[in-house]
Amino acid sequence: MGFMSILILNLQIATIDARPNKLISSSVTSVHESSPATAPIPSMADSSSGIQTDNPSHRQHSNKKLVIGLIAASSFTGFILLPITCLLIFRRKKIFKSSKIRANRLDQLRGLPLSSFINRTNSTFKPSSQKPSVLVMDYNLLKTATNDFQASEILGSGGFGSVYKAKLDDNLLVAVKKLDNQSRDALKEFQTEVDILSKVQHPNIITLLGYCVYDETKLLVYELMQNGSLDTQLHGPSCGSNLTWYCRMKIALDTARGLEYLHEHCKPPIIHRDLKSSNILLDSRFNAKLSDFGLAVMDGTNKNIKLSGTLGYVAPEYLLDGKLTDKSDVYAFGVVLLELLLRRRPVEKQAPSECQSLVTWAMPQLTDRSKIPGIIDPVIKDTMDLKHLYQVAAVAVLCLQPEPSYRPLITDVLHSLVPLVPVELGGTLRVADNRVAAALEQ
Ligand SMILES: Nc1ncnc2c1ncn2[C@@H]1O[C@H](COP(=O)(O)OP(=O)(O)OP(=O)(O)O)[C@@H](O)[C@H]1O
Ligand SMILES: [Mg+2]
Repeated sequence: MGFMSILILNLQIATIDARPNKLISSSVTSVHESSPATAPIPSMADSSSGIQTDNPSHRQHSNKKLVIGLIAASSFTGFILLPITCLLIFRRKKIFKSSKIRANRLDQLRGLPLSSFINRTNSTFKPSSQKPSVLVMDYNLLKTATNDFQASEILGSGGFGSVYKAKLDDNLLVAVKKLDNQSRDALKEFQTEVDILSKVQHPNIITLLGYCVYDETKLLVYELMQNGSLDTQLHGPSCGSNLTWYCRMKIALDTARGLEYLHEHCKPPIIHRDLKSSNILLDSRFNAKLSDFGLAVMDGTNKNIKLSGTLGYVAPEYLLDGKLTDKSDVYAFGVVLLELLLRRRPVEKQAPSECQSLVTWAMPQLTDRSKIPGIIDPVIKDTMDLKHLYQVAAVAVLCLQPEPSYRPLITDVLHSLVPLVPVELGGTLRVADNRVAAALEQ
């Protein structure tokens, strides 16, 4: 009888591996239920003796034998069965665990969806237009596309890592930002960047094509901006020589348009919080696009946020009181305008322990018209209508007012810049064609 049970058990166990995990425990339970202790013993005992008798002592004696037999059989069965069951459960667990590891590995190669850890506070955000979704990209694909993240492919480096030029399979050139920093702040910025850039869409905002999370490595894939950042153009080896007056005005207008979209057309409005020349990127036609949304916040969710930004661009009320509004971005825009006009860095080192703030130095001179031509970038000196120069200087002074309520809205700034930009470059100014062409060809 014990042998029969083992056979039944073996048959049942043989089917366990082929079943879903959920069924394992119930299969094992049914095996125990049909064990000798609960099997139809009397009928088997009767048939095994082969004798039908009414003698009580004989019945007692045969009952005793039956009980002993049953105990022996069940202990034998249990002895054999227990290790087999344990072995099978262990094997099942091991197979399940290793297939889970394999699945995780595959997920990582494909890149993990960000939905699992995306910033939930942003979930109420509604984009003003529908945007095609940002792709989860394959790590190996990006590794190959960047020549294994070779130093020669680096386009520039920032606080969180380097940006590489990459060529995808279909010869599409892209920029891949690799985050080397593993801090919590870096991870949060990565999440915010993906979250916001997956929802916004505007010609003056950088396009995020995809992202990848692979173990500790985090990658962001953007459209490639052939002319790099405004910071590199102004303060890099070309020293602003590629940027004519009209080109600079176009960059200012494009930047204002990007900000206007964030402040006026997104619901809730977005405050960029890190507007600066290195976050204004330029494509092959010097169209300007805002980048780096890692510090951006939704208006209304800007209570108790950590003071962040870049020295020289941070508005005084935010720096001193932590008061953050869209006017903080307007202040940073004013600093960028100064950079475009004067080609000076927002904070300049005078001596090892002495720094000069561009705003503090320039403000008194900008309010005196006679002094403006003397402080302008020599590269563009005498290339513009002076009236236009005074007008832009006046806009900068307004944006840099210490009191935020005295600063204009970015919409007002935008409207004051439109008439200063040639029609061909996106404004309403009519100028001789050859001068506009020169604006983009230098
Ligand atoms: N999409 C892009 N196309 C071309 N070049 C880019 C692109 N994105 C970034 N870069 C280049 O890489 C540089 C580094 O960018 P990154 O955003 O990492 O740092 P940053 O803005 O310079 O400094 P920070 O870390 O303080 O924000 C940029 O200044 C720019 O020159
Ligand atoms: Mg940047």
